[in-house]
Amino acid sequence: MVIIKEINTESTIQIRHEVMWPNKPRDFVRLENDDRGKHFGLFKNNRLVSVISLFETENVVQFRKFATLVEFQGKGYGSQLLRHIINYCQKKEYSKIWCNARENKTSFYQKFGFKLTEKSFMKSGIEYIIMEKSLDVITNWIVCENK
Ligand SMILES: CC(C)(COP(=O)(O)OP(=O)(O)OC[C@H]1O[C@@H](n2cnc3c(N)ncnc32)[C@H](O)[C@@H]1OP(=O)(O)O)[C@@H](O)C(=O)NCCC(=O)NCCS
Repeated sequence: MVIIKEINTESTIQIRHEVMWPNKPRDFVRLENDDRGKHFGLFKNNRLVSVISLFETENVVQFRKFATLVEFQGKGYGSQLLRHIINYCQKKEYSKIWCNARENKTSFYQKFGFKLTEKSFMKSGIEYIIMEKSLDVITNWIVCENK
């Protein structure tokens, strides 16, 4: 059984550390604004296997530290979690959702309607490209439909 729900910071950090930077100290995956973020987790049979964190600024949301346990990757759990948070952001009527995408993950995000921007950077030896998805179209469509 799969359940997606909000989780606390410590739970998300455990998965982030294990998946993203296992060779760095655990605090390496902590974000200074983690306590102001909204963290979501996907549970498969009560086991937390995928996490993602949302940070809102002025009606725009950045998602960060998206990670699925290695042995659970490629089974669709990350896609379910990403779809969940896109729906969540649409319901909240945020105007845009964006992320710093690892270069090797850009085609994955494109499947969800994220577009590449011209902004990119290197950090800790990894190339990142900023990707974004406007949520306005859907919000406007719902408004029109309800008129
Ligand atoms: C990015 C990440 C969170 C995706 O999580 P995931 O649970 O593996 O995601 P999914 O299983 O839904 O999708 C992964 C791939 O499997 C494919 N897939 C989805 N369901 C599938 C299924 N049932 N069977 C086979 N493949 C499937 C997807 O199409 C996707 O393919 P792609 O990478 O070629 O686009 C995961 O790869 C991860 O933790 N990576 C390391 C950390 C990282 O890079 N984070 C992102 C930083 S931008």
